[in-house]
Amino acid sequence: MKTEKLITDITVYENRSELPADVAMLMDKAFEAARGAYAPYSRFYVGAAILLANGEVVTGSNQENSAYPSGLCAERTTAFSASARFPGVAFKKLVIVAINPDKPLDRPVPPCGACRQVLMEYEQIAKSPIEVTFAGESGPIYQVKSVNDLMPFAFSADFIPAN
Ligand code: THU
Repeated sequence: MKTEKLITDITVYENRSELPADVAMLMDKAFEAARGAYAPYSRFYVGAAILLANGEVVTGSNQENSAYPSGLCAERTTAFSASARFPGVAFKKLVIVAINPDKPLDRPVPPCGACRQVLMEYEQIAKSPIEVTFAGESGPIYQVKSVNDLMPFAFSADFIPAN
């Protein structure tokens, strides 16, 4: 028997002024998308922006529904939109932001587990890491080099015998 440690490197930016220019641009677009979220039930507005390997930027936001489970998170709305518009093109960078008008967010909002699973598959099929940056309305901004850093022990298509 032995114990092993998993170590994840996270880049922590103190605020938006420290971000590289391309990530700052994606963050502006993600905030713009968040402001367009359809989130009348949670009043929690999430936006995302993906930079693709072909230079295109795709944005999206959470979309809710009166039949609650029918809604979808911003990260998956955006990833599915990017893959639908540009099939097979790798995602290079993803920025996620959230706005809570009732209680302003002073720390980064990470993607939920289901979104991590979906993002992981796009990372795996592209064989290219997706840099993920996430932020609240103020406070530090976190960045990981790969979805893998957000999701150790990920399930993947490799486990399914047909693959
Ligand atoms: N939401 C996201 O868009 N991304 C996440 O990672 C977590 C939650 C959305 C779903 C729902 O519309 C609202 O935030 C509250 O859960």
